[in-house]
Amino acid sequence: MSLENRITAFDTMASRFKATRPSKLIALHDMTPATWSNLSSAALTYLSRNLDSVETILDDKMLLDRYVAQWDSIVTITPNGMIVPKRHTMLEYNLLVRAFAKVISALGIGDLIVSWHVPLNVRIKRGLACESNLKRHHPTEHIHSDSWAGESSESVTVHLPLFGDTERNCVVFFEPPRNFEEDWLKPLPSYIAGKAIAEQYKEVDVRAKKGQVVLADFSTLHRSTRLSGAAARVSIDTTFVLRKPVSNGGERIHPWRENERVSPEVLDGIGETHFFVFTNTKDQQVDSAGGFKHPSSLQIIRLIPEAA
Ligand SMILES: [Fe+2]
Repeated sequence: MSLENRITAFDTMASRFKATRPSKLIALHDMTPATWSNLSSAALTYLSRNLDSVETILDDKMLLDRYVAQWDSIVTITPNGMIVPKRHTMLEYNLLVRAFAKVISALGIGDLIVSWHVPLNVRIKRGLACESNLKRHHPTEHIHSDSWAGESSESVTVHLPLFGDTERNCVVFFEPPRNFEEDWLKPLPSYIAGKAIAEQYKEVDVRAKKGQVVLADFSTLHRSTRLSGAAARVSIDTTFVLRKPVSNGGERIHPWRENERVSPEVLDGIGETHFFVFTNTKDQQVDSAGGFKHPSSLQIIRLIPEAA
């Protein structure tokens, strides 16, 4: 698929909602106050439940301070900062997915979504990068496309900054050159292996704020970054495959990622027709196969029988 085809498909999608476009392949949208309030409350509830605390902490600063103070004893956080949903947090996690689905529903793009990558990631990044994580295959601090870690290259990255120092601890995006090639989006053994590709990209002036959603075509690249003096932040990220008028051969994903897809109908129906079940206890870990696989034990169950 040429860059032009990607831009056409992205334009069609972004024309459905109010957006600013810092690049042809990136869109920023402001949630309504009610949608943001619903999402942030659900996220605070999930984050609180993940701590060994019986109370729900609705003050985001206080909550982040607790995470930083208790960091070494929180076993559900991966080296990349992902707060992995487990058996004891699944109810709150489903609540959060439901709130996220409402954010997407407000964009009016449901018919353009082929499938979602699940489970969506809730991430906490401390003010300083973890040195040992930077030596792994897929640290989110290295510039990358999520397709390099096995996701379909026909996807769109979705990023939502939630709490904390989202100004200095954030995700930055890069746009492709005109000679972009689809081949650049094939899975790679590590993000570092894409260095020669990344060097051809140009940084885009986009800093998403709390209450905004960023959508970026997979032909763009991104990375987590920290400016000097940065403190911790929490954000959500996931991806979906965008329906395109001219396809590049359909949805192609790494075999390890095949069980990480759901239809938009399932995502919309979380809490009503479907439910995400996580079988692992707090202390049980899933091998992420060097970042190629989601580190959770997700099963999706139907809550009501399928219509005859
Ligand atoms: Fe990423």
